[in-house]
Amino acid sequence: MRAYQLETFDAPPAFVEVPTPVPSRGELLIRVHAVSINPVDLAIASGDARSWLAYRFPVTLGRDLAGTVEQVGAGVTRYAVGDRVFGYIAGEFAHHGSFAEYVTVAEDEAVVRAPDGIDHVHCAGLGLAAVTASMCLDAAGVSGDDRVLVNGATGGVGSFALQLAHARGARVAASARPGQEERLVLSLGAERAIDWSAPDFAARARLIQADGFDAILDLINADPSAFAALASSVVTRGGKAISTLNAADPGQLDGIEAINVWSSPDLDVLERIASLASSRQLRTVVAETYDFDSLEAAFDAVRRGAVGKICVRLAPAVA
Ligand SMILES: NC(=O)c1ccc[n+]([C@@H]2O[C@H](COP(=O)([O-])OP(=O)(O)OC[C@H]3O[C@@H](n4cnc5c(N)ncnc54)[C@H](OP(=O)(O)O)[C@@H]3O)[C@@H](O)[C@H]2O)c1
Repeated sequence: MRAYQLETFDAPPAFVEVPTPVPSRGELLIRVHAVSINPVDLAIASGDARSWLAYRFPVTLGRDLAGTVEQVGAGVTRYAVGDRVFGYIAGEFAHHGSFAEYVTVAEDEAVVRAPDGIDHVHCAGLGLAAVTASMCLDAAGVSGDDRVLVNGATGGVGSFALQLAHARGARVAASARPGQEERLVLSLGAERAIDWSAPDFAARARLIQADGFDAILDLINADPSAFAALASSVVTRGGKAISTLNAADPGQLDGIEAINVWSSPDLDVLERIASLASSRQLRTVVAETYDFDSLEAAFDAVRRGAVGKICVRLAPAVA
């Protein structure tokens, strides 16, 4: 089978022929039909992730996947051949990834049943980004009537975060440039859009919510000072400031709880996501879909920036 692997830090990733894995006891062999790309895949591919993630070469890149169970190992009870699944792979090391024609995962990690009626490409987008969005909202304790600001709302995590916040009953303001981006965030449940490309984003956010937001999900600021400046300007006292970029430094925020979120493929969260997708309260915004052969072009598309998710199809969609 073909897999997209990084063999060393000194050469770019490439397609290689490798043996199709065989599921061990308790494992599923999944035929991968679609994947989606996340910024972390770029960081692992470039070697930039080595400061925080150990590599075990060869590294098969990729986290998100959607596909069908091709074979089950001994002792598997949850799944049968032919079941449609989606989720994401994350390990202690960069080694085992989803950008391959087949992958093995333990039946109780990484994947859950795919929601009915949602094709593989849209399911592939529902992995890491949607789980992260859900974990951010859990960390912020977002519930009905809360006022939430999502900074980075047009990206993978943000587009899910604003839908999930809306589904919880929260009132959401979202960063988006005028035009297509603004129309998108309003269609996903934001009450207001704030143009992040114009000067003084924080002041315009304050105009919308003079008494402050109950929470900000900041998916953009990597610098703790910039994160703290925005949060302290727009979040009400007693509110929460959530970072996916390890920028939340409690020492820099007074009266606002600063929380860093690290995503993991929690099956309960994946199940909730599948259920919301099934009831059409959550959808993957697919920016573009590439063929597996064009994976490098898909990486470039993520580098350029996209509205929603960049997805990759490996086999003809059957769902
Ligand atoms: N901690 C974790 O476990 C975890 C998990 C997932 C993601 N992350 C991190 O969280 C961040 C967001 O992830 P993602 O998958 O949503 O990334 P993404 O899909 O690249 O989305 C980022 C979005 O933000 C927009 N944007 C760029 N500059 C902006 C600005 N100054 N203000 C507001 N919006 C801006 C981008 O627009 P353009 O496309 O036009 O540039 C894009 O739509 C990434 O840095 C990622 O590495 C962390």
